[in-house]
Amino acid sequence: MTSLNILITGASSGIGEALATHYAQQGHTLFLSGRNPERLDRVTRTCCKLGSTCNGQVIDVRDRKAMERWINNIQQANPLDLVIANAGISGGTGGESGNRDFGLDIEIFDTNLNGVLNTIHPALPTMIQAQKGQIAIISSIASLVPLPGAPAYSASKAAVRFYGEALAAKLKSSGISVSVICPGFIQSRMTQANDFPMPFIISASRAAQIISRGIECRKIRIDFPLPMVVAMKLVNLIPSAFRRDIFSQLPEKHSHKKPLP
Ligand SMILES: NC(=O)c1ccc[n+]([C@@H]2O[C@H](COP(=O)([O-])OP(=O)(O)OC[C@H]3O[C@@H](n4cnc5c(N)ncnc54)[C@H](OP(=O)(O)O)[C@@H]3O)[C@@H](O)[C@H]2O)c1
Repeated sequence: MTSLNILITGASSGIGEALATHYAQQGHTLFLSGRNPERLDRVTRTCCKLGSTCNGQVIDVRDRKAMERWINNIQQANPLDLVIANAGISGGTGGESGNRDFGLDIEIFDTNLNGVLNTIHPALPTMIQAQKGQIAIISSIASLVPLPGAPAYSASKAAVRFYGEALAAKLKSSGISVSVICPGFIQSRMTQANDFPMPFIISASRAAQIISRGIECRKIRIDFPLPMVVAMKLVNLIPSAFRRDIFSQLPEKHSHKKPLP
């Protein structure tokens, strides 16, 4: 198997960590990022032990200049074959600045939308010049319906889903493929914050298998698990006034009372 250069943001935990481990087992060269140095270091060392050449970078995806410097440096030495814009927060995992409510909404948009742009934009010029490369954007099944318990989260995920799908068409003739991933509930630090039932929840390692297979097949949309996708599509058929009345009964995403490990 050819060794690829793969960059993954938010690789210090959850889905990003599972994707890093998955690609490390295949011997690819990895560039991983996260904010928490201890968590990132643990994942980086695990990936190295699995046989990958692995570089960890503590960096905030919201820092456009720092992201540009980091990715430009990588592109000069090791042109990237695949960039996975995965880092994201929800009402449960955001709010490290202490801002709640509408302040947290701004943080969610900044991370989930600007963070994605800050990840893929610096990688694109080299890919366009080489006429090859792959971009993967982690959206969410929450992008399919406007969720009242997580308005900023579902809107930020809808924005990156639209952006990614539009980019897929725009970049087709440049030889670059774009995949947008819409997972349902996945076991991670993010879902540990939820105190409501999460139907059809699957492990992060299972999610990584599904996502990597979809990316390999250059699928434009990777939505899973199927029962959640069908449920969301059915919900969307309900007229919005009725949907509002039903949704107003649903539980909200809460913040952690205590920080998670
Ligand atoms: N879990 C689900 O059910 C689910 C479903 C659909 C979509 N998603 C999406 O999947 C992605 C990964 O989430 P997850 O479930 O794996 O949650 P997670 O375990 O909380 O992981 C989130 C990752 O993003 C990183 N991150 C957050 N804000 C960042 C920032 N400003 N700069 C750099 N890195 C940052 C975190 O780094 P730190 O270690 O520093 O915190 C962590 O590595 C997110 O985009 C999420 O919205 C999750």
